[in-house]
Amino acid sequence: MTAAPSIPADLDLWLVENDTRSMDELFAFLRIPSVSARSEHNADTARAAAWLHASLARIGFTSQIMPTPGHPVVVAEWRKAPPGAPTVLIYGHYDVQPSEPNELWTSPAFEPAIRDGKLFARGSVDDKGQLWVHVMALAAHLGARGTLPVNVIVLAEGEEEVGSPNLAPFIEKHRARLSCDHVIISDSAMFAPGIPSILSSLRGLAYFEVTVRGPSSDLHSGMYGGAVVNPAMALARALASLHDSRGRIAIKGFYDRVRPFPAAVLKGMKKLPHSDARFRKELGVRALGGEAGKTTLEKLWTRPTCEINGLLSGYTGEGAKTVLPGEAMAKVSFRLVPDQRPEIVERLFKSHIMRQLPATSGVTVNVKALHGGRPWRADLDGPLYDAAKTALRAAFGRDPVIVGEGGSIPVVGDFERILGAPVLLVGFGLPGENAHAPDEWIGVDNLQRGMRAMAALYDELGG
Ligand code: BES
Ligand code: MN
Ligand code: MN
Repeated sequence: MTAAPSIPADLDLWLVENDTRSMDELFAFLRIPSVSARSEHNADTARAAAWLHASLARIGFTSQIMPTPGHPVVVAEWRKAPPGAPTVLIYGHYDVQPSEPNELWTSPAFEPAIRDGKLFARGSVDDKGQLWVHVMALAAHLGARGTLPVNVIVLAEGEEEVGSPNLAPFIEKHRARLSCDHVIISDSAMFAPGIPSILSSLRGLAYFEVTVRGPSSDLHSGMYGGAVVNPAMALARALASLHDSRGRIAIKGFYDRVRPFPAAVLKGMKKLPHSDARFRKELGVRALGGEAGKTTLEKLWTRPTCEINGLLSGYTGEGAKTVLPGEAMAKVSFRLVPDQRPEIVERLFKSHIMRQLPATSGVTVNVKALHGGRPWRADLDGPLYDAAKTALRAAFGRDPVIVGEGGSIPVVGDFERILGAPVLLVGFGLPGENAHAPDEWIGVDNLQRGMRAMAALYDELGG
């Protein structure tokens, strides 16, 4: 199965000769703190869009920065392929997660640094580095040959990390212009070093903020405790009711729309080399959790979940304070699998919480939906997947594996639904990449192989 990597020599040579420049430019991109969630970074986020726009224009694309009610979308096009050639849309995001806690980074989040073959920076893997892989693959074609075998649209948004609230309407509005034959996204990871991977599924997301209010202010817990309902206790009880003792979600109707994964996909999953012992060690936990009777990869890739993402109430400072808090708040999110829908989960979750904490319970509850996205599953056959397999084999010297993914890219389903084009998810991160965490990194080798794989992929798709 393993063969010497071989992509077209002219593309490879161009990438070798432009390697230093490419890394310098990626460093410049990574230095821009385009944190979409923070309004104090709005100017930086706009600067990242402008930077990307200029890079795409420089390699020969017709690029435009298009406003949205939030952060802008960069749309760059190259449409001079021979008649009959397909159109490929490449999607990525130029926004990043906040870098905090900053003190836990070995080198500062927005000062890219290479150590042990790893490029460390916020956005290195999620997703600036992977977006850059495509820009360089396109540049290699235009630089080495002055042309591309396919028409290309690059669409980069600045709001993925805040749930892409404006992207689906944007795609709807510009559906004619964005019309394409294939969508390609690199915003995920490979199964293991050296093993190129194609994603077969993403989970969806439904995210909520639950606020429980009791007395109109904090109270002395001795003077009032015992006679007044404690909102923190009430919230804790409601949250504890979300799972049963076997790790299943105990909301009525929650699993109704879950469609089993195809037997072939489950079988393929069982063949992947996964070790629970190694997984536990990596994470620093003594035991794993979740639904009884499922393997770890099954739990991560094929099953829905409910997690508390944040919890806030009462006194959390140094020492003790005897207080009965007036309010408690939790952030709760669900990962969804086909065919669950965020809007249906919202209805079920709200009625579950209201049943747990009715108006007569002594507290008032408010459940606010923050964002959601549908789950996605690939068809995995057709020319796009065949081309991807060939290109990955050429660049990595071995066949790709098919993997699932527990994370979410809310817009993937929208691309399929609105544009009617199949989506290929092929990522170049690695396990332990620390996406969203301190010391985020991407392997320099993976950047280089990724550029070669994507350059080869455009050739394959152009026939
Ligand atoms: N790139 C990730 C999603 C991802 C992670 C895909 C790992 C495959 C492997 C994306 O940027 C992300 O972080 N998505 C968020 C959802 C968003 C609405 C904040 C997620 O999954 O939590
Ligand atoms: Mn991402
Ligand atoms: Mn992310």
